[in-house]
Amino acid sequence: MQLRQRPRRLRNSETLRRMVRETRISKDSLIYPMFVMDGENKAEEIASLPGQYRYTIDRMDEELDRLSDAGVSNVMFFGIPEIKDEQGSQAYAPDGIVQRALSHVKADYPHLYRITDVCMCEYTSHGHCGVLCGHDVDNDETLKLLAKTAVSHVNAGAQMVAPSDMMDGRIAAIRDALDDQGYTGIPIMSYAVKFASAFYGPFREAAGSAPAFGDRKSYQMDFHNRREALKEALLDVDEGADIIMVKPAMSYLDLVREVHDCTDIPIATYSVSGEYAMVKAAAANGWIDEDRIVCEMAASSYRAGADIYITYYAKELAKFIKEGLIG
Ligand code: PBG
Repeated sequence: MQLRQRPRRLRNSETLRRMVRETRISKDSLIYPMFVMDGENKAEEIASLPGQYRYTIDRMDEELDRLSDAGVSNVMFFGIPEIKDEQGSQAYAPDGIVQRALSHVKADYPHLYRITDVCMCEYTSHGHCGVLCGHDVDNDETLKLLAKTAVSHVNAGAQMVAPSDMMDGRIAAIRDALDDQGYTGIPIMSYAVKFASAFYGPFREAAGSAPAFGDRKSYQMDFHNRREALKEALLDVDEGADIIMVKPAMSYLDLVREVHDCTDIPIATYSVSGEYAMVKAAAANGWIDEDRIVCEMAASSYRAGADIYITYYAKELAKFIKEGLIG
């Protein structure tokens, strides 16, 4: 056969495949989401997230050591408070769970980069992402509390804040509040393109943050929408976001690419709890090869345009990168 183009030529050895690889993945771009909770001497496995735990501060070191050993250096903290109230006041309490965890990590694990999720839903008794006005979330009142929460996280040692509430105007509100305190150098990673998604189910079990009534559709996005995703991303860039996140990852890769193409700041994707739970469940049944699936999912985010990947599989991915299963 007279074939001039033979794409298979570049696939015929591992060395060559690695040479021509288009997507390079580094463990430096991985972020591990970690749950910390009030209380003592507990590391509770989350039923719908096998292998993931809620740690009390005195037990966090077990996980922080494993992360350090794996070479994962970025951690995003989620707090689970003992007391939840209407206002979510533990979110911004100077001695709240995340604030105390930050002080601990800053003192004992200074090599780990500390990011915090800024939201109210883990802290409110009703489970919504802000303060209520009737049965709706009051956007502008919530902005004040989010800004206060972000400042209190930075006071306690956060090096980056990541608002996940989806209120309008929160990036500007948080940027202003941080700047007022002299925190002009603290970056904001915005959960800018965040959909109202069933993929968050296991997380809500983990954080006890399922809304007590209704759903999050009046603030998180409708999953049918594409142009609105670009609008949300561009608005947040305008308001001063330093990094834009698309969430969930796996079912929204088209938007990762589009947001990548219409902005000039780093893009993060969050492979959320439901994605992890599906892989774990299928793997436990012996239906899929977990390691290879995890690698393909990660590579697809980067290939779509992500620079940063937030995943419960961060430690495993760091290992797979080292072993050459991905990278
Ligand atoms: C808080 C928040 C959620 C997640 C990240 N931050 C839950 C939600 O919006 O309901 C989901 C993360 C995951 O599912 O892994 N607002």
